[in-house]
Formats: sequence, C-alpha cells, structure tokens
Amino acid sequence: MERITLTEDLSFSRLVYGMWRVGDDTDTSVAHVRAKIDACLDQGITAMDQADIYGDYTAEAILGEALKADPALRKKIELVSKCDIVAPCGKYSDVSCKHYDTSEAHIRKSVENTLRDFGTDYLDLLLIHRPDPLLDHNETGATLDALVREGKVRAVGVSNFRPYDFDLLQSGMTTKLVTNQIEISLASVAPFSNGDLAFHQMRGDAVMAWSPLGGGSLMTGDGPVASVLDELAAEFGVDRAAVAVAFLLRHPAKILPVMGTNSLPRIAAISDACKVDLDRQQWFRLYQAALGREVA
Ligand SMILES: NC(=O)c1ccc[n+]([C@@H]2O[C@H](COP(=O)([O-])OP(=O)(O)OC[C@H]3O[C@@H](n4cnc5c(N)ncnc54)[C@H](OP(=O)(O)O)[C@@H]3O)[C@@H](O)[C@H]2O)c1
Repeated sequence: MERITLTEDLSFSRLVYGMWRVGDDTDTSVAHVRAKIDACLDQGITAMDQADIYGDYTAEAILGEALKADPALRKKIELVSKCDIVAPCGKYSDVSCKHYDTSEAHIRKSVENTLRDFGTDYLDLLLIHRPDPLLDHNETGATLDALVREGKVRAVGVSNFRPYDFDLLQSGMTTKLVTNQIEISLASVAPFSNGDLAFHQMRGDAVMAWSPLGGGSLMTGDGPVASVLDELAAEFGVDRAAVAVAFLLRHPAKILPVMGTNSLPRIAAISDACKVDLDRQQWFRLYQAALGREVA
C-alpha cells in the first residue's frame, strides 16, 4: 500500500483504520481486536486512529490490551490520538457541561492517560480534536512543541479545523502541523469547494478524511449516489465501499481515508479502493450525484 510522508521520519499507510467504534463491537476481546489489526496489516494498513473520548474514554484501553499482549506490535503500527473534548461521562463524569480544553494542563494529562492506556511511551501523531473557541495559540502551540521535543509525540496536527483556526494555532508554534482530520465523503462534499482542501493541498499537508462511508449511510442508502457507486463497483469488480473510498483517493491533495468498520471482511473489501483508479468523468459522476445537480 502507498505510504504518505508526514515528517522526515514518519509515514502513514494511505488508508487508516479508525477505532471510534471499537467498543461498540459485540466482541471486544484482545483476540478479536488483534484480528482486526492483523486484517489491516494484511492490507498494508499500519496507521490506527484513536481519541481519548472514544467509547466514553474507554476505547484506547481496549486497543491497549491488544498492544500489551504483544509488545512487538507497537513498532509495526502508527498510533494516532486526539484530545481536548471533555464530556460529562467516564473519567470526566464530574464536569457540569461538555466543553473543549486546549490548556497545557489538560493536553498533558490526556496524553499521559493515553500513553498509559496504550502501554507505550510515544504517540506517532497527536491531534487537537475540535477547534476550541478559548484556544490560546501560544499556550497550546508551546505545549505541542514541547511534547514533540520530549519525544512523547512524533508529530502533531488538528481535526475539524477551518483554515483560519489552523493558521492561528500554527502561528503559536514552531513544529509544523502535519494534518487536519476532517469529514470528507460523498455524504460530505463541502471541503472540495469551501477552501478547506485547497488550503491543505497548497501547504502539502496530509489531509485525513473521517467517516469516508458517511458513517455507513452511503452503504445502506439508495438514491443517486448509491446508483452511481453500484454502477462503478460493478465496472471495477469491487464493493460499493471501495468506490466510495476511491473517490477520496482520486483527489490530488492525497487524502488519507480513515475507515471505521468493525468487520474483518469489510477491512479487505474497503481496501480494494487502492485498486480503483477513477477517471475524471467517473469522479464527476459521483460528485454531481452527491451535489444533487450538474456542475455549472
Ligand atoms: N476527527 C473526528 O472528529 C472524527 C469524527 C468521526 C470519526 N472519526 C474517525 O474516523 C473513523 C471512521 O469513522 P466512521 O466509523 O464513521 O467511518 P465509516 O467508514 O464512514 O463508517 C463506518 C460505519 O459504516 C458501517 N459500514 C461499513 N460498510 C458497510 C456496509 N457495507 N453495509 C453497512 N454498513 C457498513 C460500519 O459498520 P460495520 O462495523 O458493521 O462494518 C460502521 O458502522 C473513526 O473510527 C474515527 O477514527 C474522527
């Protein structure tokens, strides 16, 4: 599988495996989590996406059990985590309202918890999960710089940031923010025209796309997008999901789709996206179906 360079000494597999839903699986045993990781490794998928809040702050420990069971596994994968969302559940049950916290104290506490839950001493990538209206770019930027300097994280980035949020944080730090993880799919096409992808393409950032199958809605729905997906899937001899992901891979910003299936066979079926090379007209048929109109 193609790899995307994030820093001089860090690259990710083009497809990333997301673990938001790992705790929703009927089987959260070490053996089954490991089977999903192995299914990813079989496809060349080595980057694993997590966040402190997933599973009400329990998902990282579920992955951590699999990591602790086989210490050799850590070096075969890249671990991504995110922080700043504080919701009144799990270990934050005592907070009175959901909020974002990009203070040094919170980021450091969250990273330490994540490292402990994973049983590792470094993260490959740490993301600020959501733009915080109370972001002090100098404080947050200095904290991210320090975490990289201390070797606790190898690279830093953000998620769900607009270009102006991104520039603000970047202006308070010396380390380059390497990615913005945003929602992009045939169910969410705004980034293709609202300047988000253009901004990151110009900077050469590795854009990560969450919910590339629209959280599953593109797989179960019918309608114009589904019809074009099915037509192209038949043409390429792949699953509908592979075409939906190939739609993202075709973009010159070199998008990294973050898939979220808990199903072992679907990990392979979605990875077939790498075999699908959509031409310009096939891409526009999908795009226009998603827009619900012909381009002007
Ligand atoms: N940064 C952020 O703010 C943010 C937000 C959301 C998500 N994320 C990241 O993005 C990752 C992916 O998000 P996602 O899980 O929403 O991605 P997704 O790949 O768009 O959707 C996954 C969902 O689609 C279902 N699905 C897949 N193929 C299907 C099929 N053929 N038929 C029916 N259902 C199907 C899966 O069910 P099965 O498990 O049964 O296959 C799963 O529930 C997350 O794990 C997380 O790492 C980040």
